[in-house]
Amino acid sequence: MSVVISRSTAELTPSEAARIRTLLDGAFEGRFTDALWGQALGGVHFFVEEDGVPISHASVVPRVLAVRDREINTGYVEAVGTRHSDRRQGLARSVLAAARRHIEDTYELGALHSVLPTFYEHLGWERWRGPTFVRTDSGLERTRTDDGCIHIWRVEAGAAVDLDDPISCEWRPGFVW
Ligand SMILES: CC(C)(COP(=O)(O)OP(=O)(O)OC[C@H]1O[C@@H](n2cnc3c(N)ncnc32)[C@H](O)[C@@H]1OP(=O)(O)O)[C@@H](O)C(=O)NCCC(=O)NCCS
Repeated sequence: MSVVISRSTAELTPSEAARIRTLLDGAFEGRFTDALWGQALGGVHFFVEEDGVPISHASVVPRVLAVRDREINTGYVEAVGTRHSDRRQGLARSVLAAARRHIEDTYELGALHSVLPTFYEHLGWERWRGPTFVRTDSGLERTRTDDGCIHIWRVEAGAAVDLDDPISCEWRPGFVW
């Protein structure tokens, strides 16, 4: 059983933050941009270390999603990655379980964006079926390319959401979802 460390972004030392970034740069093979890193900050990080080096990570940041007109305080999962040499040993499963417990203690709903076809559903997340939107200063804009990529984790208060309803996120720089 892996020991999962949890730290808010504010609690991370600069070297811990740098080591997590290095892990993610490797896990995403150069596709982990500064924008993605920025979106992974401002919440709580969950990670497993080996000899002081993070080898698997996920973070949960606060967002407000809206299902139809109902705003829902959401823990949004970002920056999920495991070092190549340590994959398929249940590490991401462990950090995501810790992230999920934090979501259940803190938020009304969990959510994340992923293009992986089966990974999150295999871990119990539900794929959103309805249309996706972003809320901007000029109103709702469709985010068609994100349809089918949003996954949710039901927490008691948010349990009644209908997966076929429209869902929106607030605008943010970089990837809105
Ligand atoms: C996806 C990723 C985080 C999985 O990490 P991991 O530590 O190997 O995952 P785990 O070993 O905890 O796997 C948990 C379960 O998912 C399955 N699984 C692992 N990788 C998978 C993948 N890419 N696709 C589908 N299922 C996968 C495992 O078989 C396991 O199921 P099991 O326990 O029933 O056997 C890792 O491959 C990675 O870092 N990929 C590159 C970055 C990335 O794509 N991140 C996700 C972005 S949303």
